[in-house]
Amino acid sequence: MKIFKRILLILLIAFVAIQFVRPAKNVSTDKTKHISTLYAVPADVNTILTKACNDCHTNNTVYPWYASVQPVTWWLDDHIKEGKSHLNFDDYSTYSLRKQYHKMEEVVEQVKEKEMPLNSYTWVHRDAKLTDDERVALTTWAQSVMDTMKAHYPIDSLIRKRK
Ligand code: HEC
Repeated sequence: MKIFKRILLILLIAFVAIQFVRPAKNVSTDKTKHISTLYAVPADVNTILTKACNDCHTNNTVYPWYASVQPVTWWLDDHIKEGKSHLNFDDYSTYSLRKQYHKMEEVVEQVKEKEMPLNSYTWVHRDAKLTDDERVALTTWAQSVMDTMKAHYPIDSLIRKRK
């Protein structure tokens, strides 16, 4: 029993200690490179992105209270960093045309296949679980961005030719 208590005490001390080590928060109000500076984002689509995607795919996360408790902070930080490295709506205007186009293809695919938003996210954020209508609205928008691009740029600047 004594060893048990000792382990418990060590765990408790470790838990308290890690509370002081935290990554910088993902917060920014800079929208100057946001996707909407290039392509129209209708209000209904913006609502969907805000509640279901932006926490991991922009430079601004709305943190729940428990995000301040370690090791949750690290776990969330990991998702946010990885999500942003794949797709960041706040950096969209810095992407090459090819990348912009391809990321919209990915949005259509990921949303259709219900890969996004991540399950671990919708368990907690129940309202981020998309309805069929919301999925259609989001994929139709992503497709319309691709169509706009196709109307403005030659296709080989958007898609690498398959040899
Ligand atoms: C909890 C964080 C989180 C949320 C919320 C989230 N994503 Fe993601 N997303 C990720 C992570 C992490 C990856 C990279 C790993 C993977 O594909 O699973 C990713 C990958 C993607 C990719 C693939 C990009 C590529 O280069 O292949 C797309 C597209 C995407 N997400 C779109 C969305 C959309 C649209 C939403 C909202 C409907 C959303 N995500 C919500 C974390 C998230």
